[in-house]
Amino acid sequence: MKVDLGGQVALVTGAGNGIGRAIADLLAANGARVAYTDADEAAAGRAAAGKPGCAARRLDVTVPADIEAGARWLLEEFGRIDILVNNAGINTRFRVNLDQFHDDEWDRIVATDLTGCYRVTKAIVPLMLKRKSGRIINIASVFGLVPARLQCAYVAAKAGVVNLTRAMALEFGPYGVLANAVAPGSTLNEGLRKIYSSQDPADRKWVEGTLSHIPLGRPAECEDVAYAVLFLAAPESRYITGTVIVVDGGWTAGFSRDF
Ligand SMILES: NC(=O)c1ccc[n+]([C@@H]2O[C@H](COP(=O)([O-])OP(=O)(O)OC[C@H]3O[C@@H](n4cnc5c(N)ncnc54)[C@H](O)[C@@H]3O)[C@@H](O)[C@H]2O)c1
Repeated sequence: MKVDLGGQVALVTGAGNGIGRAIADLLAANGARVAYTDADEAAAGRAAAGKPGCAARRLDVTVPADIEAGARWLLEEFGRIDILVNNAGINTRFRVNLDQFHDDEWDRIVATDLTGCYRVTKAIVPLMLKRKSGRIINIASVFGLVPARLQCAYVAAKAGVVNLTRAMALEFGPYGVLANAVAPGSTLNEGLRKIYSSQDPADRKWVEGTLSHIPLGRPAECEDVAYAVLFLAAPESRYITGTVIVVDGGWTAGFSRDF
């Protein structure tokens, strides 16, 4: 899929690794000048290196001063913004019931996955509203549509991202700014790639269990998610707003078992 994003500027959060990096790379490969931002400044710099017209900067979506400085930098460096991808997100490694869930983990995840999306959009969208044009693409999760057990903060934050996206579509639509979400299923970031290729019996059991829910029989590559973002960023997607594109190999299409 080729799209003409020539002359457009995109800002991607969490662009140093994984899905965010694949999104930033694909937008750049289709002509956009991309601001690679990440809490990990070195990772953002590595990802942007050698990409003409692109630049990198530390931007931790939980730090308001970083967001303000990032918005100022964006204007100085690029002079405009057309596409905002709120991708930065984390989950917990503690898998426990809600009554055992650590409050600081709850706060950390909600602050990053949901409040971060709100705060970055709040800082950037005035630039779009002023020009009466722009695309906001929020990276949610299938767990924001159908929750998984033992991840209460993540599933709540991602469900919040889905409805926040719809609220953005309602509020910004009259100003020509479109807002949509992409909900990935199991996607091979660095950590998951290790687990999927591990020979450890506990990992094998987890992989087998996960794959049994995925009709396409494999996890997503980061690029599979990035293509959905590219589609939503494309000039041709000008009548799509307030929707969620699910990229999960069929995981949430129904129950992958016989009744
Ligand atoms: N990988 C999956 O299976 C999967 C599935 C569904 C949804 N997602 C979502 O996709 C998005 C990207 O996930 P990923 O799998 O690529 O993760 P990843 O861990 O590979 O990359 C996340 C990136 O975000 C950065 N980051 C973390 N906290 C940040 C913060 N506070 N501010 C700015 N940057 C920060 C990290 O430094 C890292 O570079 C997340 O929103 C995640 O919830 C991932």
